[in-house]
Amino acid sequence: PLLLGVMGDPIAHSKSPVMHEAALRAVSLPGSYVPLHVKPDRLAQAVEGVRALGFRGVNVTVPHKVSVMDLLDELDEGARLIGAVNTIVNHNGVLTGYNTDGIGYVRSLKEEAVPDLKGKTILVLGAGGAARGIIYALLQESPAQIIVANRTPDKAKQLAEEWSGLGHLTGCGNDDIAAAVKNADVLINTTSVGMHPAVSEIPINPEWIPEGIVVSDLIYNPLQTELLRQGEIKGCRTHGGLGMFIYQGAYAFEYWTGCEAPVGVMREAVLRSLQ
Ligand code: ATR
Repeated sequence: PLLLGVMGDPIAHSKSPVMHEAALRAVSLPGSYVPLHVKPDRLAQAVEGVRALGFRGVNVTVPHKVSVMDLLDELDEGARLIGAVNTIVNHNGVLTGYNTDGIGYVRSLKEEAVPDLKGKTILVLGAGGAARGIIYALLQESPAQIIVANRTPDKAKQLAEEWSGLGHLTGCGNDDIAAAVKNADVLINTTSVGMHPAVSEIPINPEWIPEGIVVSDLIYNPLQTELLRQGEIKGCRTHGGLGMFIYQGAYAFEYWTGCEAPVGVMREAVLRSLQ
C-alpha cells in the first residue's frame, strides 16, 4: 500500500490528511496519508525515515518548507527558484522536492475566476513565502505586468529584481497600492491580513478597489474575508483561498500516484471538516 503523509509543527490542525484519505478512497488506491508531528531538530531524521519506511511521498508544511530543501537529493526548478518545498516524491530512495503551492493557486484561479491570464495586469499584496510561489507560477502565464506591493518595500523591490528575467515584474511599497490598483485586472492578497481571528481587517482601502475587477484572497479561514466581501460590493468577481489548498494537494496527489486527482471529492472532504 501507498504510504503518504504531511510533516509540520504543529500538525494536528492540518486538513491534508482528510483531503488525501478521501482522494485515495475515491480512486480505490490502497494506502494511508498520516499527520507527522516533526520538530525542527528532528527534520533530518524524519526525512531519512521517509526513505527507511518507504513512504512514496510527503507534504511539508510550516516551519519546514525552506529548511527541508538541504535534505533532498533533487529539486524541481520552480521549487529552487521559489526557495521552498511543499511536496516530496520518493522515487526508489531518491527524494525530489517540488513546490505545488503556486501552481495550485494558479490552477484554482483559472478554473474558478480568470480562465486566461495572458495580457492581464495583476497586483499582488505581500512579498513573503506565499507570494513568491504564486508570482513564480503567475509569470509562467504571460501576464502583461505583475506589481508586488509590500509593507517592507525593499522586499518587493528585491523580488522584482531577482525575477526580472522571468517577465514584467515591479516592486513597490504599500503607499503605491492606490495608484497601482487603478490599472489592475486582478488583485491578489497573499498577506495574513484578514485571517481568523482578526476577520474585520483588510489589506487595502476598499474605496480603491475598481468596479468589476477580479479580487482573490489566499486566506480560506474565513472562507469569505472582508476583502472578498468588499470586492463583492464593488461588483467584482471574487476568488477565495480554498481552491489553492485543494489544487496544491491535487498536484501532489498526481505526482505520487500518477492518477488524476478527484478534485471534487477532495473539496467536499475539506469543506465537511471545516464545519
Ligand atoms: P507567508 O509564507 O504566508 O507569505 P511570510 O513569508 O511571513 O508568510 O510573509 C507574510 C507577508 O505578509 C509579508 O509580505 C508581510 O509583509 P512584511 O514583508 O513587511 O513583513 C505581510 N504582512 C504580514 N502582516 C502584515 C500586516 N499587518 N500588514 C501588511 N502586511 C503584512
